[in-house]
Amino acid sequence: MTAITAQLSPQLSGVPETLLITLAARLVATRDNPDLGFVDPAAQAVGDALAFDPGRFAGDRASMRGSIVRSLWFDGVARQFVADCPQGLVVSIGSGLDTRANRIAPPPGITWVDLDFPEVIALREALVPSLPNVRHLAGDGTEVAAWVKQLDWEQGRPLLVLAEGVSMYLDPGRGEAWVRDLVDEARRRASPLTFALDLASPLMARHGRRNPSVGKTSASFSWGVRSPADLTRIAPGLALITAYDVAGRSGTMSYIISNLYRLITGRPVYSCALFTAAAP
Ligand SMILES: C[S@@+](CC[C@H](N)C(=O)[O-])C[C@H]1O[C@@H](n2cnc3c(N)ncnc32)[C@H](O)[C@@H]1O
Repeated sequence: MTAITAQLSPQLSGVPETLLITLAARLVATRDNPDLGFVDPAAQAVGDALAFDPGRFAGDRASMRGSIVRSLWFDGVARQFVADCPQGLVVSIGSGLDTRANRIAPPPGITWVDLDFPEVIALREALVPSLPNVRHLAGDGTEVAAWVKQLDWEQGRPLLVLAEGVSMYLDPGRGEAWVRDLVDEARRRASPLTFALDLASPLMARHGRRNPSVGKTSASFSWGVRSPADLTRIAPGLALITAYDVAGRSGTMSYIISNLYRLITGRPVYSCALFTAAAP
């Protein structure tokens, strides 16, 4: 065990511990899911520095594949935003040890902020290769009024909020308030908001502990939404641009569950969703 692991990893428990699941997925992606074409040298550097054995989660093939399918979708959203808004602000809430900014290499006009709980940010600062226009923020991503004060968010500056693998761990009431607060803050600053997150269905949220990877951590799911469009009722002003079925692309068993669920309910069991809120 390296000094860094010995010093920092014991502090990871509860929801922060789940960042190890997605880190494992990135580390085994080229071996176990080569068809997805996911390449991430920075993640390899993080895994090496942490002396982390992805074997703890690698047997859960559906979660490993689903994590990469999801990551590639979020990468696409981020790439599109930095191309459309090269002076924009990106806030990645619950960034864990992800290396999205390293994969994307945002242009100099972009300010990119990776936000997570203090123990996770301490790990990021020690492990994730730094980039000139990427900074870290320690805090609770649902406390929007607190973290916006720490940003260079001028009136009218377009904002992209990414929240990958976060919403399902939130208390439902807190999750709903978080989405409303994001929309309100963007409106107050006359800024167009782009918001990407993944959403569990109520069924998935109820059975989080049965997920073979989540079950190995001390975390569990809390918030499920019936359909991505529900967020537009929770936070008026949000418009749903697209929803992307992750489960249907995460291996045979997930594909079957996804299709059965859709057949019975007409809704996705687990999806990523992209929203916008126009500036007033
Ligand atoms: C499943 S991990 C995903 C990490 C990263 N997004 C990825 O895809 O590799 C969930 C992350 O969300 C963070 N998280 C959950 N709730 C949060 C909150 N309210 N504020 C900040 N971070 C949060 C956890 O600490 C953890 O790092």
